[in-house]
Amino acid sequence: MLVNLTKILPAARRGNYAICAFNINNMEIAQGVVNAAVKLNRPVVLQTSQGAIEYAGMEYLAAFGHIAAETHQKLPIVLHLDHGTDEVLVERTIKSGWYSSVMIDASRNPFSKNISITRRIVALAHARGMSVEAELGPILGIEDQVRVSRAEAAFTDPAQVKKFVAETKCDALAVSVGTAHGPVKYAPGEKPSLDFKRIAAIAAATKIPLVLHGASSVPHDVILELHEQCSRLGDCARVHDAVGVPEAQIKKAIGFGISKINIDTDVRIAFTAAVRKTLLNDSQLIDPRKILGPARDAVEKLVERKIRLFSGVK
Ligand code: G3H
Ligand code: 13P
Ligand code: ZN
Repeated sequence: MLVNLTKILPAARRGNYAICAFNINNMEIAQGVVNAAVKLNRPVVLQTSQGAIEYAGMEYLAAFGHIAAETHQKLPIVLHLDHGTDEVLVERTIKSGWYSSVMIDASRNPFSKNISITRRIVALAHARGMSVEAELGPILGIEDQVRVSRAEAAFTDPAQVKKFVAETKCDALAVSVGTAHGPVKYAPGEKPSLDFKRIAAIAAATKIPLVLHGASSVPHDVILELHEQCSRLGDCARVHDAVGVPEAQIKKAIGFGISKINIDTDVRIAFTAAVRKTLLNDSQLIDPRKILGPARDAVEKLVERKIRLFSGVK
């Protein structure tokens, strides 16, 4: 069943668990995510970045969400636009009628401009029964279209939260509290750590669910699999630098009011390691189903692990 964020996040915040949100870029990733959520019978967010829409097309990505929601009527599934920085695209997403939720990311604007842009998008989305996630404090990281340099990144100021939420009426708030997008979240020698004091102060300022972006952990076993395959190619440089947020710290953050956990990088690593392994093991392989099938299974395994850890699976 297709739902918006307000149907699942407030209960998560009250219950001290989180809903996992995964970026989908193609059919295999979408199916891997949905298979795991169905297996564990836990709600899930399928989210598409602007880059994913540019790559696959909004209609195709939305179709994956709709087919999943129609097939699994009892399972709450959210189809969400991730990091909508382009207001025209956010409006198009809202007016398409395909999505149940959008994120407006105006976090790089001055505070008052962030409020006015977010408020306008919230009004448009709420009129159509859709939820809106907003962002306060740009989160570090260089991805395809989500690019915030160290100089631009800024932690969320708890003193701004109450006014921001009251004036925008957003349904969920992405906060900048020590994570970054992509595989390299911390500089060499820097200790991976979340700012729990800041999370607690933000949570004290608002009751709305808080969202942790850049929440990939780059788990040891998952990155090891990629190392193994990359070393067969003799090139591991960027992979060796990967440092994520420890899973124990994410669990602790959930107790402090974080209710939505955004994961893309870990899915990418699991997917890529599986594709590399398959191709390196058999140079004769030309059937896309045999190449991408194991990657879909690897995504399912990774997503199952995340949902078990963070989504209150008994
Ligand atoms: O938050 C960023 C996501 O990882 C999306 O990255 O723009 O490369 O699809 P992307
Ligand atoms: P990661 O790069 O840590 O997976 O974060 C993804 C994200 O925040 C998507 O919005
Ligand atoms: Zn993000």
